[in-house]
Amino acid sequence: MLKQQPLIIAHRGAKGEAPENTLAAFKLGMDQGCDAIELDIHLTSDRHIVVIHDATVDRTSTGSGEVQAMTLAELKKLDTGIWFSEAFAGEEIPTLAEVLELVPPKIMINIEMKGTPGETGLVQVLVDLLREKQRIDSVVVSSFDHAALYKLKELEPSLRIGLLYMKERLSPADVKREALAEIFSLHPHREWITPEYVAEALEQGWILYPWTVNEEDQLREMLSAGVAGMITDYPGRLRRMLDHAES
Ligand code: G3P
Ligand code: MG
Repeated sequence: MLKQQPLIIAHRGAKGEAPENTLAAFKLGMDQGCDAIELDIHLTSDRHIVVIHDATVDRTSTGSGEVQAMTLAELKKLDTGIWFSEAFAGEEIPTLAEVLELVPPKIMINIEMKGTPGETGLVQVLVDLLREKQRIDSVVVSSFDHAALYKLKELEPSLRIGLLYMKERLSPADVKREALAEIFSLHPHREWITPEYVAEALEQGWILYPWTVNEEDQLREMLSAGVAGMITDYPGRLRRMLDHAES
């Protein structure tokens, strides 16, 4: 019996089984019983927030070019499902506003800001949208650009922010104690953490959401280490494991 079930966070939706960062992938993640959704955002040239991972549309759509150089209308003409499979033909690149309409507030959304969000103005547009949609309380905003996260926090102190990190091991003890009030969660790459690291983080009072945890042995390892949540391409797989652990 598990003491506390970790959050199942669907990475770019149920990315393993549907085209990433599409409404179809988010619906599938929710159908599979995820508790939260991770997605990536960029700003268009006409200052709309769109949900897409890369800085260009080339890998995940029928078009080519930089997201920040295109208007929303131009992006909406592209198909972002067919590259994954014929079954998903017709999927559009969603706006963050469309995702907020689809996903109820009880499902936490981990919004990852891509690019250089402090410089492009994305932080301000994001705060404005979350206020307008009354979703300040149901999201966690993360980024590898930690300065942009602190800027976001200045604009809206009640927003929860999560530090993403990969190459260096950010020791929980290295983050100042007072930062606990500022930072909601730490989002390390799973390869950089060990059970000892998780234990240290828990002792310091941190919430840990490692990514991207997909294989059964990795999921099991993180589960027994006691992380607060896992960002996974296969939310259904983790849901089955947790249900099994409960029974
Ligand atoms: O937020 C966790 C993870 O999504 C960070 O890496 O490249 O998948 O956005 P990436
Ligand atoms: Mg991401």
